[in-house]
Amino acid sequence: MRRGVEVIAVDESERMLDELRRRIPVSVVDCRVGRAERIPIDDGAVDYVFANMLLHHVGEPSRAVREMARVLRPGGVVVITDLDRHEFEFLRTEQQDRWKGFERESLSGWLLGAGLTSVVVESLGEDCCSKSSKGDAEATVSIFIASGRKPDRFTK
Ligand SMILES: C[S@@+](CC[C@H](N)C(=O)[O-])C[C@H]1O[C@@H](n2cnc3c(N)ncnc32)[C@H](O)[C@@H]1O
Repeated sequence: MRRGVEVIAVDESERMLDELRRRIPVSVVDCRVGRAERIPIDDGAVDYVFANMLLHHVGEPSRAVREMARVLRPGGVVVITDLDRHEFEFLRTEQQDRWKGFERESLSGWLLGAGLTSVVVESLGEDCCSKSSKGDAEATVSIFIASGRKPDRFTK
């Protein structure tokens, strides 16, 4: 990891954070147990927020996006990668997904609603693949990448 970069990892699961600690030296990552709907980071404290495959597990995704915007410093950028809208019910019943992906318009609306600008939502060009543990069902779901920038209060 580049010297000078500080990383805060947030997950509601201590077990997932333990897995991260196992893979990455703990001294360079500040691991915090917390929920996306109430991120345990001060207002305006970070330059970037990255949320990968989180949002479809969250009860109130629009609130989570507002929280991501809150913790960003002015000029900071949020990047979210997640599933496009799909119809694979087994992902909800077997894998604790709360949402069957999202319409990209929902993401733009939530990012703009959180006060972010330069909002872009587009295809990542990759799919997420998963097999049902209880049958023959197989899911292939495209992944989007969404981003937005917190306006710099010192410029017009
Ligand atoms: C599919 S995993 C992705 C993990 C990680 N972001 C990655 O890219 O490997 C989803 C993660 O979201 C966490 N999670 C689910 N709901 C959450 C919430 N409301 N707040 C914080 N973390 C949550 C789960 O504990 C799980 O670790």
